Parts: sequence; structure tokens; C-alpha cells
Amino acid sequence: MPEQKGSELKISIFGLGYVGAVISGCFAKGGHQIIGVDTDQTKVDLINSGKSPIIETGLDELISEGTISGTIRATTDSEAAVRDSDITMICVGTPSRNTGDLDLAFISRVCEDIGRAMAKKDSRHIVVARSTMLPGSMSGTVIPALEKASGKRAGEEFGIAINPEFLRESTAIYDFYNPPKTVIGALLPQDSEMVAGLYAGLPGPMIHTKIETAEMVKYVDNVFHALKITFANEIGSICKTLGIDSHEVMGIFCQDKKLNLSPAYLKPGFAFGGSCLPKDLRALNRLARARDVAVPMLNGIGQSNDQQIAAAVQLIREKGKRRIGILGFAFKAGTDDLRESPVVTLAENLLGKGFELKLYDPHVSLAHLIGANRRYIEHHIPHISRLMVNSIAEVVQHAEVLIIGNQNEDYFKSLAGLVSDQHVIDLTANSKRPETAATYERVSG
Ligand SMILES: NC(=O)c1ccc[n+]([C@@H]2O[C@H](COP(=O)([O-])OP(=O)(O)OC[C@H]3O[C@@H](n4cnc5c(N)ncnc54)[C@H](O)[C@@H]3O)[C@@H](O)[C@H]2O)c1
Repeated sequence: MPEQKGSELKISIFGLGYVGAVISGCFAKGGHQIIGVDTDQTKVDLINSGKSPIIETGLDELISEGTISGTIRATTDSEAAVRDSDITMICVGTPSRNTGDLDLAFISRVCEDIGRAMAKKDSRHIVVARSTMLPGSMSGTVIPALEKASGKRAGEEFGIAINPEFLRESTAIYDFYNPPKTVIGALLPQDSEMVAGLYAGLPGPMIHTKIETAEMVKYVDNVFHALKITFANEIGSICKTLGIDSHEVMGIFCQDKKLNLSPAYLKPGFAFGGSCLPKDLRALNRLARARDVAVPMLNGIGQSNDQQIAAAVQLIREKGKRRIGILGFAFKAGTDDLRESPVVTLAENLLGKGFELKLYDPHVSLAHLIGANRRYIEHHIPHISRLMVNSIAEVVQHAEVLIIGNQNEDYFKSLAGLVSDQHVIDLTANSKRPETAATYERVSG
């Protein structure tokens, strides 16, 4: 177990389930004074008798050491626990309702208990949520409940932070000492720093961010993990019907750290397209169907991709303008390949709705195109080729709504010359807001 370094603090931990019990043991081992709080007397009694209230490798030993050395005790008395601690961590459950909605009933109740106790305390207390909660839960439920019950202002009179928990049951203690990352969202930097101090000496990046971002990150992680499992299972099902070893296939897949297990393709932007992804996705889905293999996730990818194009059309229509400029319409920058370019699909859709379009892409000009790409334009999208102009400036002058279709520095530079009643819709995965007087937004994000 690596040694944790940091100044000792008194921490009350509300909720002694999987998260609360594990972090009680680990923080106590790190030298902090822990007061565990639970409404369940049995869990409180178990901790006070040196036993873990949950099955988790190594936790009995940590709790036993903590109770013997006096660094852990448990109680049902929330007021005394808040009074006798500097920081409170909320680890109560956040279950699903029957509808699938998040149920924050335990959170509301525990915040009332903590808030009432803070009302009687003179020193500034810090409340840190460890429970998993949807974005907006801190500002909409946790902070109002604490403020109402304590009569104090969040940030000014008490500190508030969210520090999502990433441990996995069965390896929870190992995960505590080897976190993939530590994420803290707080109202004030000094509260964020205080929480970070609890993890001094642990590996992994320490990330300070906004409260809503920290709330969201936890869901993104879990949904992505669910997506990975489902993806592997659906690929495995297809492999099985073909008599192919799915473990070998996924093993090879995982060796690609450049495009597969990497940040590649993980920036929100616009629909995918081009001459490979749509065609190969369709072919694999058709193969699965022909062999009666249900792959609902793989089937859903195309639908989701079409939805991105529909969302862009909707966003453009909402502007209430007719003159549309498109900079970049090959499926990605640096190619003249227009096959299944989602920007071309978008342009055709807009044309059908009577918008006046002008398009420019330095790599796509009929004069220079040869072979398959020229034939593609002439046979499939001759109407689009008639709208092509020869410079960025022509598009910018024409456009009430300017669409950036793929990454090109010159497109972004041209935005500096726009005026305030023009609109820019950026379909690229560019993450920086460019300098422009025009309104600027993306379809995703
Ligand atoms: N279990 C995991 O592996 C895991 C991992 C990461 C995050 N999380 C998240 O952490 C949170 C807690 O999960 P868990 O699995 O530890 O839950 P759990 O159900 O095991 O434990 C919650 C505990 O809170 C107690 N509690 C309820 N109301 C209380 C109150 N007012 N005062 C004091 N105690 C109260 C309950 O009696 C229970 O012992 C959830 O939001 C969960 O999504 C869980």
C-alpha cells in the first residue's frame, strides 16, 4: 500500500456502504480521523466492533486497525459528527426510480442533516459529495438543501465540492491507492485544494474543474465502460457465428493504441462519413442480420450518425436565414474524397429546403479533380458542383450562416472578418472558440 502524505484532517463520512466504508478505512490508514455516519445501526455497530459492513478484500483489516488505533469510529449522530470534523463526505446511495430517473431522496435527507448540524457550528465546514449525481444535482439539490438547513451561503460560509468516486467493488482498496484520476469540482479554488490534499502522494492526474463538469465526468466514464462491454459482446456474437476466435480479434484490436485505445475519435464534432466507415458499418450490420445475430448497438450507430445531420439542419433552420456558406465539404480536411461526406448530405438537405448555398473546399475543384472523385461529382452531386465558388471570401460575403465543414486554419482565420449578425456553425472537432464577432456554436458541445 503506498504511503499517503498530507496533513491530518477530521473527516465525517456519511453513508457506510461500499464507497463510504472503503474510503473510511483508507483515509484512516492515511492518518486522518474518521467519523463514519449511517442511519443503519447495524453498520455503525459493525464498524465500532472493528469489522467491515461490506465484503471487500482487505477492508476488515483496515477497519480493525482504525478502530484499535482510534482513527475510526462510527455513529448515527449526524450533528456530533459534523461538529467534530472539518470535512464531511457524502457517500449515500443515489438509486434509480422505476422510471430510470435518478432518485436524490437520500441526498436531500443527508444534506438536511448536515445543514442543520452546520447551523450550530462557528468554524467554516467543507461538504464534499462523493455520490454519483447527474449534472445540476449539486446546484439544484445539494447546495439549496444545505443552505436552507444551515442558513449559510455556499462558498462564503461553507465550502462545497464534488469529488466523484471511481473505485470498483472487489478491487476497491487497490483502486483507492491507484486511482485512474482524481477529479474535484468546487465553487472556490481553496476548497478544491483542500480536498486535493487528501490524495497527496497518490498516482494519476489531479483534475480541478467546474462542479457540473465533475458531475458529468462520472457518467461519461460509466456509460463508456458499458459501451465497451456491449461493443465487445456484439463483436463476439458475430465472431461466434463465423467460427472466428473473438478473443484473438479483440486482442489484436486492443494492440492498436493509436486509433483504437486512444483519444482518437473521442472529440464531439459532426457525423462520420467517407468512403470506409459508413460502408463497412453497413456491411457488418447486414452480415449480422443475415446470420440472425442481434446487434442493437451496432445497428444504432448509423441512426445516431443520421441524427447528427438532422440536428445540424435543425440548428441552421432555427437561425431563420436563407443564405448559407459552407467552408470545407470533403468528409475530412486534406482530401478531395466526397463519397458519403456528411457535409455534402447536409448541403443537399439544405438545398432541398430552398436555402441559397455557396461552397468552397480548396481540395475539391472540378478543374483539378480526376478519376472516381470527378465521376462522383458529375454523376451523384452535379447540383452541388454548380454551387462551388473559388475562394473563402466569396463564401464569407454570401453567408448569413457560415458552416465550417472540416478543419482548415484558413477557415478559422476568415472568421475574424465576420460581423455580429452572421452566425457560425462549426462542425469540426475544434475545441477552441475562434476570434469572431459573429455568433459561434457547434452541433455537439
Ligand atoms: N458501489 C460502487 O462501486 C460505487 C463506485 C463509485 C461510485 N458509487 C456511488 O457512490 C454512492 C454510494 O454508493 P454505495 O454503493 O456505497 O451505496 P450503498 O447503498 O452501499 O451505501 C449507502 C449507505 O448510505 C446510508 N445512508 C442513507 N441515508 C443516509 C443518511 N441520511 N445518513 C447517513 N447514512 C445514510 C445507507 O444506510 C447505506 O449504508 C452512489 O451514488 C453510487 O452510485 C458507487
